[in-house]
Amino acid sequence: MAKVKTTFFCQNCGSQYAKWQGQCTACKQWNTIAEEVIQKPEKSNWKPQGSSTKRVSKPLKINEIDTSQEARLNMHDAEFNRVLGGGMVQGSLTLLGGEPGIGKSTLLLQIALKLNYKTLYVSGEESQKQIKMRAERINPNDNSCYILTETKTQNIFKQIEALEPDLVIIDSIQTLHSDYIESSAGSISQIKECTTDLIKFAKETATPVLLIGHITKDGHIAGPKILEHMVDTVLQFEGDRNHVFRILRAHKNRFGSTNELGIYEMQGSGLREVSNPSEILISEKDGELSGNAVAATLEGLRPLMIEVQALVSTAVYGTPQRSATGFNAKRLNMLLAVLEKRAGFRLGAKDVFLNITGGITVDDPAIDLAVVAAILSSNEDVALPSDYCFAAEVGLSGEIRPVQRVEQRILEAEKLGFSSIFVSKYNKISIKNTQIKIQLVSKIEDLIGFIV
Ligand code: TYD
Ligand code: MG
Repeated sequence: MAKVKTTFFCQNCGSQYAKWQGQCTACKQWNTIAEEVIQKPEKSNWKPQGSSTKRVSKPLKINEIDTSQEARLNMHDAEFNRVLGGGMVQGSLTLLGGEPGIGKSTLLLQIALKLNYKTLYVSGEESQKQIKMRAERINPNDNSCYILTETKTQNIFKQIEALEPDLVIIDSIQTLHSDYIESSAGSISQIKECTTDLIKFAKETATPVLLIGHITKDGHIAGPKILEHMVDTVLQFEGDRNHVFRILRAHKNRFGSTNELGIYEMQGSGLREVSNPSEILISEKDGELSGNAVAATLEGLRPLMIEVQALVSTAVYGTPQRSATGFNAKRLNMLLAVLEKRAGFRLGAKDVFLNITGGITVDDPAIDLAVVAAILSSNEDVALPSDYCFAAEVGLSGEIRPVQRVEQRILEAEKLGFSSIFVSKYNKISIKNTQIKIQLVSKIEDLIGFIV
């Protein structure tokens, strides 16, 4: 009998070993190495008809290459199109990762239901009835989407060949398994094998494929890192599950920028595209409250007005508490130290809590000035006018530093009806005749003059 060939894979990072060991030398995780049976498949699962298998590729001059076939498929979803860089490229593989329950299946099913060409939604996780129930909540009268519940790649390809869909969605790559590999579904070798087959299928038939991928507890897409290298685009669907907003961003995109961002709101009838996010990120309130400040930030190329809330109170216990949600806690400590040293505020005996509304995380440094303003406002218990906003970075010596693309931020603030925007004196601003008042500040002390 032929000897069964096995090898050892780290289930965390996908490194391969000849024998078992307790710790993976590559990613340093313990107990992640497992034995998997590998058998080189004699043939690939995807077997197109005709002569295309025998096709030999030839070198072509770059300006002779015909790109008309690279036409993009319009996904009929402005946010999704924007993140992809203007629609899905024919024959591309896109991987969508995200935490369980964040709405990956909902998003892709919703897209499949909106499209007016033949889509095949393959689910290894839910039954056809369950998917139908979900579809009825989203869009009850669609008839161009086919649902298949199957996990064996051989059978999936059989159905694809019969149906010839324009778009294939696989929910999820971790549930697929190929007959040629003996290890269980979701193992490193199965994921690799099934993805390779799907890539081959996508490239040869120019059909775009969307894959859903699970993520591990530390937020990476489960399976080998190589999975992310193999696909053309890696999208991440994120957001706080307790909030209704979801953010879609590209971590890798061979056909577009990774700076773009899509925002959705989870509703009873699926995900709604949010085309003007600034309006929803600013909380509605009746009067002006102390401790609130609005920052004009940029997420990728998109301006976003975000509300920062701070609460400064006398520390009840010996050590004051500092906590930040949606903002880097170390940066908060740094800003507090700057306030203490440069502006003489005795914040050392106070608890400081900071929250970015909407459940999103901001790493644009232009939010600094709004954080400082919110802290000062809460500390003094003086409300800032609700039509003020801020866009500047704060340096270690209390200087207010310029930020990139300040004009775009000013225009967004103006569009949303803010009366004043605080920016660094050192920003070069060439726009004139704005309705909004541009307040130039160079030191923290200048800001205090406005607030206190
Ligand atoms: P789901 O797409 O199943 O998540 P994933 O595939 O990422 O695991 O999303 C499930 C959540 O979305 C679930 O908690 C319920 C919620 N949801 C709505 O709020 N409204 C809807 O119309 C749908 C379909 C789901
Ligand atoms: Mg799902």
